[in-house]
Amino acid sequence: MSQEFDVVVIGSGPGGYVGAIRCAQLGMKTAIVEKYNTLGGTCLNVGCIPSKAWLDSSERYHQMAHEAADHGIETGKLKLDVKKMSSRVAKVVEGITGGVQFLMKKNKIEVFHGHGSFKDANTVVVKGEKEVEIKAKKFIIATGSKPTSLPFAEIDKERIITSTEALKLEEVPKHMIVIGGGVIGLELGSVFQRLGAEVSVVEYAKDIIATMDKDCSKHLQRALKKDGMKFHLDHGVTEVTRKGKKVIVKAKANKDGKELVLEGDYCLVAVGRRPYTDGLGLENAGVKMDERGRIETNGHLQTSAPHIYAIGDVVKGAMLAHKAEEEGVFVAELLNNEKPHIDYNLIPGVIYTWPEVAAVGKTEQELKDSKVPYKSGSFPFMASGRAKASNESEGFIKVLAHKDTDEILGVHMVGPRVADIINEAVVAMEFRASAEDVGRICHAHPTYSEALKEAALAASDNRALNM
Ligand code: FAD
Ligand code: NAI
Repeated sequence: MSQEFDVVVIGSGPGGYVGAIRCAQLGMKTAIVEKYNTLGGTCLNVGCIPSKAWLDSSERYHQMAHEAADHGIETGKLKLDVKKMSSRVAKVVEGITGGVQFLMKKNKIEVFHGHGSFKDANTVVVKGEKEVEIKAKKFIIATGSKPTSLPFAEIDKERIITSTEALKLEEVPKHMIVIGGGVIGLELGSVFQRLGAEVSVVEYAKDIIATMDKDCSKHLQRALKKDGMKFHLDHGVTEVTRKGKKVIVKAKANKDGKELVLEGDYCLVAVGRRPYTDGLGLENAGVKMDERGRIETNGHLQTSAPHIYAIGDVVKGAMLAHKAEEEGVFVAELLNNEKPHIDYNLIPGVIYTWPEVAAVGKTEQELKDSKVPYKSGSFPFMASGRAKASNESEGFIKVLAHKDTDEILGVHMVGPRVADIINEAVVAMEFRASAEDVGRICHAHPTYSEALKEAALAASDNRALNM
């Protein structure tokens, strides 16, 4: 006999598990279906968390190797134990996914392990150790995404790899060729570069992180280049072949068609991710997809079957964990007859390279394109006392505000710990603060976030105090 729930969530990533918790908090009898043995989805198992754990370990190593002496610390010859580094990452993942298991129990959410598939519009079959059928009044699809590849680049998972395999490497590549100068390429490229690999990035666009503010992408490229990362921009990869332990990547310059040939021992393919709906039986439930393979949703994240909702990477919008989480809460509250709201303009984006990059709201280009009159104020970390004290004065913060009303329209940052500073900008914009509002708020000294206050002062009335 099948079990019945108010809500069944399919997929336990940040969208699914957070949505399930909010449903349970609101008194709904909730179940979650996850095909893997551990909960947490891409983010906790093979995404945000392990990548940040690698970034942190590699940053410490890099600092010891290259910066300790400046601080008067003699280290002698450093020894790198990549296997131990990798096992620390695995332990972090184990701890945090176990935490989600605990949260499910605490909130009395029933967990079904196995592949979920719609049998009909109100029944999901879960194929795990046993096969079970579960029924619900409402469903939330949160099945996430998987890496894409190029038609001619077969991912062999040994030498031609995606982020999933890169996060489990137990040796430092000699020469890692990264296809794609986007978020994954630069974050994971940074990890191996800091550990001693030669890293070459081949990117189709003219800029790295092409969707972000141009000043940020140019600044980041300069900083990574200074650390030794090589860039081949404006090049489309045409061929990826493996010869024993070697990988050969060929690319063509968009400008003149000139061929570039690179030889390395690993090739990381980081050209984006695709929504994952394989074997979900959407056709049995009347759920439609759009032309890009995403589940089609309306403004309420409702699919073409009105009692089935979809959230996170499997629907349109940024493929980010915090966007998925907001959507999980949004749907749960909607099911509770509330009137939730998400402002997609205020979903921040962060890249955890060093320096870090973070942004929220409109870029200068977007404001120019939509003919919004704006003014801009920047403050360099060179002029920040906190940054100077730490020898971390790379980067700047730029505030864009409406020319007439002074309302903050976009904030873009490159520099130390900007991944954390950006949240202050989000709060300010959520409350529709003017640049002057932020400029007049007392910021503790010395902190990195004083640079935001100074940039806001520069934007509101060209009156930064320490510049
Ligand atoms: P997912 O996390 O992909 O979870 C979907 C879950 O559904 C999976 O566990 C899957 O097994 C399960 N599932 C799928 N189909 C079925 C089925 N039929 N039955 C049962 N279960 C199913 N984002 C950030 O915001 N910050 C970061 O720092 C960041 N770093 C990243 C680093 C890397 C290397 C990668 C790859 C991604 C990173 N992301 C980051 C993106 C982030 O991981 C995703 O945006 C986020 O995980 C999406 O959440 P989701 O809940 O939509 O789906
Ligand atoms: P991406 O979309 O960020 O970058 C892919 C890059 O590959 C693009 O710049 C594209 O121009 C380039 N490209 C495509 N085809 C190419 C070709 N033939 N030759 C050369 N270059 C080519 O995708 P990425 O880095 O794979 O990340 C996937 C998703 O994961 C992102 O959407 C991101 O939101 C998420 N993510 C988020 C992180 C964060 O928030 N810090 C960290 C890692 C991933």
